[in-house]
Amino acid sequence: MEHSLPPGPKLSIEEQTFLWFSTTYSFLDRCARDHGDSFTIEFKGFGKHVFFSEPTAVQEIYRGDPAIFRAGAGNPFLRPMLHTYSLLTMDGAPYTRHRKMILPAFQPQRVTELATLMREETEISLSKWEVGKPFSALRAFRELALSIVLRTLFGPVVSERARQIKALLVQLLDDLILTPSEKAPTAEGALAVREWEKFNRSVEELDTLVYAEIASAREKPADGTMLSLLIAAKDEAGIGFSDTELRDELVTLVVAGHETTATSLAWAIYWILHKAEVSQKLLHEIESQPKTPDRWATLPYLEAAIKESLRMNPVIPFVSWLLEEPVTIAGFKLPAGIHVAPCSYLTHRRPDLYPDPTVFRPERFLERKYTPYEFHPFAGGVRRCIGMYFAMLEMKIVIGTIFEKLTLRLDQTAPKMHAVRRSVVVAPAGGTRVVVMG
Ligand code: HEM
Repeated sequence: MEHSLPPGPKLSIEEQTFLWFSTTYSFLDRCARDHGDSFTIEFKGFGKHVFFSEPTAVQEIYRGDPAIFRAGAGNPFLRPMLHTYSLLTMDGAPYTRHRKMILPAFQPQRVTELATLMREETEISLSKWEVGKPFSALRAFRELALSIVLRTLFGPVVSERARQIKALLVQLLDDLILTPSEKAPTAEGALAVREWEKFNRSVEELDTLVYAEIASAREKPADGTMLSLLIAAKDEAGIGFSDTELRDELVTLVVAGHETTATSLAWAIYWILHKAEVSQKLLHEIESQPKTPDRWATLPYLEAAIKESLRMNPVIPFVSWLLEEPVTIAGFKLPAGIHVAPCSYLTHRRPDLYPDPTVFRPERFLERKYTPYEFHPFAGGVRRCIGMYFAMLEMKIVIGTIFEKLTLRLDQTAPKMHAVRRSVVVAPAGGTRVVVMG
């Protein structure tokens, strides 16, 4: 088959990589403006990526044969931390086995039971916010989201071991971006090698702590934590997870689950506070609801505001799946060995789907139902984010509780908002600086 890749920016690989890392969203805007629905970008160390934003092309990819579209192989940069047996790095039969075994713990009904834990951790976090002192909402949300996911997995974070796990994870995520492949970055010189060694030492330290948590959980009777559910999970042959498999999936859930949610919260709080009429409508909805523990399921405006923020600022703006065989998508004949990238950010900016796409307007999600190929901040198909219900519930509880308990404003002295890359996500610069009013 003769190949036909869509054109892309006429820049060197180094320039394309630099623009991607430094100006992520605006680089994508520029490529879409110059080349339309599909274009090719080449990233240093990550290969050629063909981007798609038109919903039928996105659907073709998400519904494609997982033996051809390999999502795990598309995430090599996560391997140094998540290793071999992670939902994010596996494909084929081992992937399907893990997904089936983990999925029950993330079903909506089971996730709803976590509302009390999420609410308690949010109240603890809010009680530390000082009146009148501007601070980074992202920093506070990161700490909170990490506490929520760690407590979900391991139970209350009370031990020294749990505290150490928390500290190491924060540091490792900061360093993750330094490790773009499985190989040590020898070509980049001594500093990179030192960084690499430091990173690997921290991963080893983390592993020792996580294995100790697994060993002590195996000794105990089931206690309702997600770790005890995963220990009890069995595949079709009646075999459970090994310690190595458990380690890799636990680290995956912490890494995939907290930075994404915290950063999405920082964007959402920015947009909600930025638009006075949205804040007012939200406050009205929250105040007029009876304070039942299950009220989070029935706050349509809050849900619409969160979705609208995920639309404007999907923190993972595209996913990257490696082609095992040649395929044709949207008329382009693509060879094996390149990546296809369904791009939520650009789908979400299409005026044919979202009129005035740069305007934050939660009402659009109340007026129209979007398909999973028109709105896809959690990716899609068989690889859709396993934590989607978890993240939506957590974001509703955190924002709902803020509105119930405090009066929060944007810090007016903060510089104008723009997007920056932080580790694996795109974040608001400065983390959305906010201040609690007295
Ligand atoms: C707003 C918050 C979140 C966003 C925007 C988000 C987004 C995504 C995206 C785009 C993917 C696809 C990644 C890829 O294929 O390369 C993904 C996968 C995944 N996410 Fe999330 N996520 C969020 C929260 C969570 C939470 C709370 C958890 C768990 C506690 C979680 C666990 C996972 C896992 C395990 C995968 C891999 C799923 C698979 O391939 O089977 N995520 N997420």
